[in-house]
Amino acid sequence: MSQPEQKTLDEVATLRAELDDANYRYYVLDEPRMTDADYDRRLRRLQEIEAEYPDLVTPDSPTQRVGAPPDAGFPEVQHAVPMLSLDNALNEDEITAFVKRVADRLEIDGETIAFCCEPKLDGAAVSLVYEQGVLVSGATRGDGRTGEGITSNLRTLRSIPLKLRGKALPDLLEVRGEVIMSHEGFEALNAKAREEDGKVFANPRNAAAGSLRQLDPRITASRPLEFSAYQAARFEPDPGDATHSELMARLGDLGLRTSAALEVVTGSQGLIDYCRRLGERRDRLGYDIDGVVIKVDDLRLQRELGFVARAPRWAIAFKFPAQEETTTLNDVEFQVGRTGAITPVARLEPVTVAGVTVSNASLHNADEIARLGVMIGDTVTIRRAGDVIPQVVRVETSLRPADAREIVFPERCPVCDSEVERLEGEVVARCSGGLYCGAQRKEALKHFASRRALDIDGLGEKLIEALVERDWVKTPADLFRLDAERLASLPRMAQKSSDNLVAALDKAKQTTLARFVFALGIREVGEATAANLARHFGTLDALMGAEVADLEAVEDVGPVVAAHVHTFFRQPHNRDTIDELRALGLAWKEEEIGERPQPLAGQTWVLTGTLESMTRDEGKERLQALGAKVAGSVSKKTAGVVAGPGAGSKLAKAEQMGVPVLDEEGFLERLEAWESGRETEQ
Ligand code: IVH
Repeated sequence: MSQPEQKTLDEVATLRAELDDANYRYYVLDEPRMTDADYDRRLRRLQEIEAEYPDLVTPDSPTQRVGAPPDAGFPEVQHAVPMLSLDNALNEDEITAFVKRVADRLEIDGETIAFCCEPKLDGAAVSLVYEQGVLVSGATRGDGRTGEGITSNLRTLRSIPLKLRGKALPDLLEVRGEVIMSHEGFEALNAKAREEDGKVFANPRNAAAGSLRQLDPRITASRPLEFSAYQAARFEPDPGDATHSELMARLGDLGLRTSAALEVVTGSQGLIDYCRRLGERRDRLGYDIDGVVIKVDDLRLQRELGFVARAPRWAIAFKFPAQEETTTLNDVEFQVGRTGAITPVARLEPVTVAGVTVSNASLHNADEIARLGVMIGDTVTIRRAGDVIPQVVRVETSLRPADAREIVFPERCPVCDSEVERLEGEVVARCSGGLYCGAQRKEALKHFASRRALDIDGLGEKLIEALVERDWVKTPADLFRLDAERLASLPRMAQKSSDNLVAALDKAKQTTLARFVFALGIREVGEATAANLARHFGTLDALMGAEVADLEAVEDVGPVVAAHVHTFFRQPHNRDTIDELRALGLAWKEEEIGERPQPLAGQTWVLTGTLESMTRDEGKERLQALGAKVAGSVSKKTAGVVAGPGAGSKLAKAEQMGVPVLDEEGFLERLEAWESGRETEQ
């Protein structure tokens, strides 16, 4: 066998040091410095070299171990059965190769073998021990042999039963699974941390791991953690010749959560199909997965196959493209929103993240820039998951170029040059230009014309931009002064479409007070609040003349919203615009005070998963406008659950409790019926 060159020895030493350091930061400090993709690349390279020169393998090589030593703060727990890791398959050929290896070893036809497929949840692995059905201990994985006892923390997770359900309880059950945080929970936790100067986590996995390793279980309890089981490591009495999927169903009966996406398939084509299907759904699941875990389903065959040092021979992890990648921050632009909020947006060297090219990412606000310590020219790590806007999660300061530039938050609005204000205690900086600001004007007009506001057909984003840029439209009133001839002179605007637009504008003049109030775009006045205001005051004049105290008397209007409404109607330019709109023929029937139908009054609804035709916030607003309360969790009292793709525990709970569940189509049908007054109760 050939001897390695000095160059190879150096490479091995560097890779090991880098991997050890990454492990330490990731597992011990909860402060990852390396993306998974970079980590996997280095580990693969080290495995390749060690395969070529087996003499170089040492017991302490990162290829030979499964994790990092446990933290000192928690008692050590010896795992009765080691918690192993899995070998990876990086492409479909490697799945086929896995099936062939299994088939050759068992001396059977690979295409007849049943495999159980589950999402590879990206969270923190834990092991729970139940004796006579009672949870007695829970531990992290640690280095696979010794973990940390975090029983009190795990007991705070509602998805972990303290007692198993049912009559036929096993004498002993050691169940393993993943503790995860949904995208929704993760976003909410970070949003709160950003506001309160708390710890912002890079991704849901670190948030889950960090939350489990809190010395104070009350902190763990406050975190949106979920447990999902994927393996019965010990089951006594022995369930006999069961399959893995049967055991998972059994765990479900015992009250444990298992993956709703679990499927048993046959042969390599069945596996490849499953991986493709799950890959397509990945962005809609609502939580992070980094691949598919493939397991030989028959436990007898699993036993026959056994283990190699680091992993079982009967399972493999098919890896999806990484959700984090590194790239360069080329520049930062400042965007101005409808309410003047100024958001720094990172302009990135385009990079493919989990199959999508990303060239922009959110930097949130000035505090976030300071927290990240990011400069223009830096190498940054980007995370893209589900429908969440890509985020900059950290900066590789060691790679900072000499000509890196500081990011200077503008003192004047980049669009209209008005002063930028940042109010005491607020993290958001705003342009003070109001409707004088072109950016705010465009956003305000888009909102004014939108479907749930005045619903002006044919007045889209591009057209609004053209109208504002030419200064033809400064306020919503100017829209109704446009004539077809002038419109037809715009590029790409045919006579027919301009005629249609004028007709649509004319039609939009007949509206409702609630829609009109919503269309004005008053800060924090959504559809439900606008409807409440319209119903309470009955006429626009009464609403415009209301004092703060009168406004606070309206359902769901607190001091902040009342102040926004009051200030809005005190601005002379807003009053002028409203007068002009009325003079141009905008009209509505007076609202019958207090008599808007509220078919869902007294009911509580829950929205979960993603909706395609509207955002969850819109769905919530519409339900509230019908009198419903919208809650975050399902209980016996819940009147209904709307479940889109990615719905997880809430849907499962609703089904378990017999709470009615609507899919998006059913929800839309009902909404329309309720809103039109065709149906008065659920
Ligand atoms: S089975 C001996 N199933 O992946 C096999 N693991 O490298 C035990 N993981 O950190 C693992 N989802 O926590 C299995 N459905 C799933 C999984 C899963 C995530 C994690 C596991 C471990 C890693 C294995």
